[in-house]
Amino acid sequence: MKALEVRIRKVRKSDVDRIVDIERSWHHLSHWSIDSYYRLLNDDSFTSSFVAELEEESGSNSIVGFVIFHIAADVSEIYNIAVENGHARSGIGKQLMTAAIEESARRKARKVILEVRKSNNPAINFYLGFTFKIAGERKSYYSNPIEDAYVMELDISD
Ligand SMILES: CC(C)(COP(=O)(O)OP(=O)(O)OC[C@H]1O[C@@H](n2cnc3c(N)ncnc32)[C@H](O)[C@@H]1OP(=O)(O)O)[C@@H](O)C(=O)NCCC(=O)NCCS
Repeated sequence: MKALEVRIRKVRKSDVDRIVDIERSWHHLSHWSIDSYYRLLNDDSFTSSFVAELEEESGSNSIVGFVIFHIAADVSEIYNIAVENGHARSGIGKQLMTAAIEESARRKARKVILEVRKSNNPAINFYLGFTFKIAGERKSYYSNPIEDAYVMELDISD
């Protein structure tokens, strides 16, 4: 299936409400408070984060996905990535993750890391597709429900 064409752009403060809506469209995701998102927005590093914008037939744009990541020294950490439930499996996540990896490499990160619920097979499969490897585990990392995390890592040092 042809991927849905979206525009990937840097996040803006005004995007927070849509980001929260998309996050809430997935029940299994850990829900961050709106305040946490605004706090991240006041952190300069938040500007590395991207949203995916879809042009609707009406001509208006709507945000259908986001990736939030943080680059410190040579490590880029994906804090969260999600595509609106109704637009999943249309290639949007792939475009967002590709943009995050490219930006991380541009800013001299040597690896990209993330945590994922052990039961989140769709996301694990998605990351394996980018050749992320399971590098470790964190016991009871998640709450509601309590669950271990896999730590996944992608080497981008070349
Ligand atoms: C994980 C997520 C971001 C992927 O985004 P997406 O736009 O749906 O993914 P894409 O369409 O770009 O898929 C790329 C590849 O990932 C894999 N993949 C994606 N969704 C999958 C699923 N439900 N089951 C199995 N593999 C999947 C496939 O290999 C897919 O390629 P293919 O469609 O050609 O087979 C999205 O499903 C999502 O928002 N999930 C809920 C939030 C979440 O769990 N985030 C991770 C937190 S750690």
